[in-house]
Amino acid sequence: MYFDETELERVKQAIDIVELIGGYVTLKRKGQSDLWGRCPFHNEKSASFHVRADRGMYHCFGCGKGGSAINFVMEIERLSFAEAVRMLAEKAGITITRTESKESASSDTHEREQLFHASAIGEKWFHDRLTVTPRSKEAESALKYLNERGIGLELIKRFRIGFAESGWDGLVNSASRAGIKGDTLVRAGLAYKKKTGEGYVDRFRARVMFPILSLSGKPVAFGGRRIDGITPDEDVAKYVNSAETTIYHKSEHLYGLVTARDEIRKAGAAYLVEGYIDLLALVQAGLLNVVASLGTSLTEEQAKLLGRFAGRVVIVYDGDDAGRSAAVRAADLLTIAGIEARMAMLSAGEDPDSLLRKVGAETLREVIANEKSFVQFRLEASGVDQKMGQKELLSAAKGVIETLQSVRDHFQRDILLTELANLTGLRRELLDKSVRETRRSENPLVTVEKKLTVTPEQNPEKELLRAILSHPPLIAEVMEAVAAEQFEHPGLRAIYLALEQDYLGGRPASPDAVIDKISDPALRAFLAEASLSTGNATPEAAREEMQECITLLVKRLVVREREEIESQLRQPGRTIAENRPLMERLVELNRQLQALNIK
Ligand code: UTP
Ligand code: MN
Repeated sequence: MYFDETELERVKQAIDIVELIGGYVTLKRKGQSDLWGRCPFHNEKSASFHVRADRGMYHCFGCGKGGSAINFVMEIERLSFAEAVRMLAEKAGITITRTESKESASSDTHEREQLFHASAIGEKWFHDRLTVTPRSKEAESALKYLNERGIGLELIKRFRIGFAESGWDGLVNSASRAGIKGDTLVRAGLAYKKKTGEGYVDRFRARVMFPILSLSGKPVAFGGRRIDGITPDEDVAKYVNSAETTIYHKSEHLYGLVTARDEIRKAGAAYLVEGYIDLLALVQAGLLNVVASLGTSLTEEQAKLLGRFAGRVVIVYDGDDAGRSAAVRAADLLTIAGIEARMAMLSAGEDPDSLLRKVGAETLREVIANEKSFVQFRLEASGVDQKMGQKELLSAAKGVIETLQSVRDHFQRDILLTELANLTGLRRELLDKSVRETRRSENPLVTVEKKLTVTPEQNPEKELLRAILSHPPLIAEVMEAVAAEQFEHPGLRAIYLALEQDYLGGRPASPDAVIDKISDPALRAFLAEASLSTGNATPEAAREEMQECITLLVKRLVVREREEIESQLRQPGRTIAENRPLMERLVELNRQLQALNIK
């Protein structure tokens, strides 16, 4: 489903970007429509986050994030494009209709919708294998396996757990009946193209399937666990996981979050475990407000995501060395994200599921309730105890201070420092001094948007766009001299095409309309940065820059054609008659080049 362009336009018109972003960031006005504040996407002391009221755009010079009001809402609320539009429309009191017409949607939205659809079909297919009778023999065994692990039909339905049959084409065939092409399944991470011959085969086979849902409740990825006796022996991996796709970025999802969201909100707190089975064990023990980070260590995005729903997070990880160091990292990230992190470490080699089997639900709950505070846990993890020498004590305290320096909230930092002073016996004033002194090197945990990379040859394309973006009326002149095909960099060409289209559609070339059509973050950062940098260039300077770039691009075109002709002329067996028109063209090109060089 797609939005109507004009309605989208209305929503954007109705939204005051300053008011919107002002709800999340304290903005200071510096000039008529320029506002600055501290970036909400990374930790910083100085204000490098720039909002331009007149252009409806924002850009951070620190981390490179930037875009329109819609991008801002997508990023900060972790919403899809459609969800962000809906939220903004609601805010503005505009009712929007969605149409089925493909023309009105960007190809990007269309692709996402296709992948969502394919994943939904996949999820239903897997889930039905377990829940619709009669089941296959394999599915019966899979169900038995789950039941033996305490996972009955109720949990299977709650978490939409499924089963992938061991044939090679169960899903491929069922999807094809639903009108989904094999190629779409491949892009959704659910199938492979056959190595030999035509056709596609299922990616997940003979495994229990755990769907990972987006915040709007749509399946976006899967984890498939092997089952002894069903999964073929040579298929050794314990879990097969979806690769990243257009709709699934591993680092941004938490398993179980939508399902637990209301429980988490109600409790104001969440439990964080490592895996699928751990999560299901906690739910079996009656702790419903639980999410899983899925094996790898928690990411900054996941911490922020969780922070939107929980003020306190209890980490429940394995007590072995690996689990401990994963917990330290997770605890640091959560603390920096403004969350009260607490730790319930299990004994080494235990996870919630093994403990539940061994000691039962009540004791598991007791073990988990016996949690430690962040500071307590961090000191213990660095080996602090009563008999410790001063030096070790200091270095352990400094480790904690390093994390505390990135905590933005003064009150939260104060509470943690007080606790650190109490537990170590170090004087509070000394700790405060240390916090001030250890220079807060810009938070290393921040991810900086990748810079747009262009070759030196493509640089004029980039600079030309920069000139247009800072002074949109220039597009008219550029269009007379340069065709979109002359842009070699596909991303830059896409921007130029979109600007051109806008202009031809009777609108002024407007960067904020273009930016919502661009999904590559590096490209979007460039767009935002370039269109907000009018302060640096007068219209005259921009025009000069534009003319220079046009010259360079025309020159590049001429040089390439000349090379092409020269290589044709070098081919053996050509007659003089055949060569004549080429020679004439060569002379003409050389003349043009000379003229350009004089310019
Ligand atoms: P575990 O090995 O602890 O698995 O990995 P588990 O979920 O507790 O499963 P059981 O109890 O042995 O059946 C924890 C998490 O790490 C990820 C999965 O998300 C898993 O739930 N993982 C683990 C993988 O992605 N791939 C693997 O091969 C192993
Ligand atoms: Mn386990």
